[in-house]
Amino acid sequence: MDISFVRCKNIEAFLRKRAKMLKLGDHLTDAFISEHEREQMKAQLSLARDLLDHKKCPGAEYTGWLELPLSVSEAELSEIERVASDIRDNFDILIVVGIGGSYLGARAVIEALSHHFMAHLPAGKRNGPLVLFAGHQISPDYMHDLLEVTRGKRVALNVISKSGTTTEPAIAFRILREQLFGDLTDQALRECVFITTDRSKGALKQFARETGLTTFDIPDDIGGRYSVLTPVGILPIAVAGIDIRGLIAGARAECSRCLAPLSEDWTPADRYAVNRMILLRKGYKAEILASYEPSMRFVTEWWKQLFGESEGKDGRGLVPIGVDFTTDLHSLGQLIQEGPRILFETVIRFEKTRHDVMIPSDSRDIDQLEYLAGSGMAEVNEQAVLGTALAHTSGGVPNIEIVLEERSAFCLGELIYFFERACALSGIMNGVNPFNQPGVEAYKRNMFALMGKPGFEWLRAELTNHSVTS
Ligand code: PA5
Repeated sequence: MDISFVRCKNIEAFLRKRAKMLKLGDHLTDAFISEHEREQMKAQLSLARDLLDHKKCPGAEYTGWLELPLSVSEAELSEIERVASDIRDNFDILIVVGIGGSYLGARAVIEALSHHFMAHLPAGKRNGPLVLFAGHQISPDYMHDLLEVTRGKRVALNVISKSGTTTEPAIAFRILREQLFGDLTDQALRECVFITTDRSKGALKQFARETGLTTFDIPDDIGGRYSVLTPVGILPIAVAGIDIRGLIAGARAECSRCLAPLSEDWTPADRYAVNRMILLRKGYKAEILASYEPSMRFVTEWWKQLFGESEGKDGRGLVPIGVDFTTDLHSLGQLIQEGPRILFETVIRFEKTRHDVMIPSDSRDIDQLEYLAGSGMAEVNEQAVLGTALAHTSGGVPNIEIVLEERSAFCLGELIYFFERACALSGIMNGVNPFNQPGVEAYKRNMFALMGKPGFEWLRAELTNHSVTS
């Protein structure tokens, strides 16, 4: 019997029970985009879908994420859950070492779904080990402080790098290995270091082979920023105690919806991609992603990477900006309302919150809030969403709304797939390869040259000469 099939049926049953799906509200763009403009984009959308779904687009060799939620196997999920459960049982801290696409997805999902003050909860009230991050910058102060909090704690590492040669995580891994496990034999190291990398090549793979460490493969056909639903994301997410099957089920629901043939009812991802293209061509240069839930901050960071790295090339692309509302209404809010009219806004909203907290009555009413006494914060937040959307649209900022049912693994899975799909379609419609990142190499080459990496002497001479003469 195919166990994977049985489990998949469970996921399907789970899906059937879920009537509500991610929704896209773009009625607030009506003053900025008319329906005939969308209609006229239909041919381009249809071509982009065709190129993507038939894997004929530029970068097609990196489109393995397209059907990933449908093909992830029971064996893969069980193995991730088994290792995650060992880590949860035996360690106080998991440090995830990685950068870019090998970092942001896991952090996004973990922070979106965890307790806001996880690190401050007493150990017994925490849902598993603390998940901390390293290798996503080269700050010595950060590394020093990280090492300080690990003292006396049982620490595991999950080192994630597809190429296995990225400088930031390689430096972090070398330091953490020496500082935390310097005395350990390879045998003991196997208990606490887990590697996620290319299935066959790269320095990390070689290190794992030589030391016999447990490894998880990153599929060849999935690039970093599209990899959150591979072991890159789901191992650390599972260690954080998050339901990875729910996450995959959400992605699967959105994937099935997106891969259906183009009909009169465009999918939310189709519509979002088309709205973005129309607005870009009308002169809107930047898209602001806003959320009213602070736990979504790293989802916004992940989104910025996904869209920025996928679309920003060949002199093209929308500039992705992230804000937390209502916090940033007291900083960037002024610029959004009255600054240059080159911005549009995409707002993520949840239909329900996990909790509500009532605003109490106070007969002195010094703060003049008595009219809100007895209201929940959720209701006030909702009105802030509405009030802001109306203010911004009347100030000339088109608004698109992404509505999720709740802050759950399922909804995050839907959202991830929705953004991946919309990003790929937008990039293709805009004439770029959404799966490469040639521009990322420029700073790396300069850094290697300046640090004296063998083989980069010519560039060092060029750079030194440049800074002397300029
Ligand atoms: O999206 C991408 O491909 C990049 O952001 C990479 O994920 C990032 O540069 C890290 O690369 P690697 O996983 O090879 O260390």
